[in-house]
Amino acid sequence: MKRACVIGWPVAHSRSPVIHRYWLKLYGLDGAYEQEAVRPEEIEDFLHSLGQRGYEGANVTLPHKEAALAGADRPDAAATAIGAANTLWLDDKGLLHASNTDAYGFMTHLSAEAPDWNKGKRPVTVLGAGGAARAILHGLLEAGASKILLTNRTEDRAKALAQSFGSRVSLIPWGDRNRALAGCGLLVNATSLGMTGKPPLDLDLSALPLDATVPDIVYSPLQTPLLAAAKARGNRTVDGLGMLLHQAVPGFERWFGVRPEVTPELRAYVAAHLGAS
Ligand code: ATR
Repeated sequence: MKRACVIGWPVAHSRSPVIHRYWLKLYGLDGAYEQEAVRPEEIEDFLHSLGQRGYEGANVTLPHKEAALAGADRPDAAATAIGAANTLWLDDKGLLHASNTDAYGFMTHLSAEAPDWNKGKRPVTVLGAGGAARAILHGLLEAGASKILLTNRTEDRAKALAQSFGSRVSLIPWGDRNRALAGCGLLVNATSLGMTGKPPLDLDLSALPLDATVPDIVYSPLQTPLLAAAKARGNRTVDGLGMLLHQAVPGFERWFGVRPEVTPELRAYVAAHLGAS
């Protein structure tokens, strides 16, 4: 039996088991997907013993994504550029490979829902400067975004991100975020604002062109206050669940040998587990 796991501290909140166990059952595979709660001081040893523990590989969630990159023998280009890994697998020589599939997940869902998101090469506004924002910037730049306006409450974090991604990323003070929306073709919420239990994102959409697309990384609730407001004024919206589902695809294929599909049935199944409609 092939086994994989998600490693985190804590780990119980992770949605990965719901997705991977759904696919294992759907494709009739002899496999298992487990949860491993690993303390920060034990992560290095745990990664070294992944194979001895019987795992083909793993997903990695907070707070271990940077340690997973550091502990890998063969990080790929995405993990290196993003500075964090969320997907690990062992090759037949026992070498630990690491990738970051968040950018892939975000871009795959965006391209499916809004294939023309970069039409006219208009600027993109990204709100946030955490790990998710870093992955999204990498994905957008790789896909040809010509200008990204980055804004974050804590400006130093945005500054550090802008510096590592180069001249296509410009900083916008958090206080000027409403004005930055004028002329944008895409507005991405990569903050945690709008998530259940968090305040909504305080943003005035008046300046945003009506043909702009608005993706939110928050998937609980599926329709965030930002997405509801954007939809009400006629903007196309893209929810955060697609990113979560698509980022799981490359890992499953590595561990279990089948490239799984993201289907409306999977979406409905995971949404039901989130308590969303
Ligand atoms: P992740 O790695 O999942 O992106 P994170 O590093 O905690 O998570 O980042 C969360 C993002 O939401 C950050 O951009 C954070 O802004 P700060 O860098 O200023 O902390 C943003 N965020 C969270 N709560 C916020 C709030 N009340 N107002 C504005 N931004 C907020």
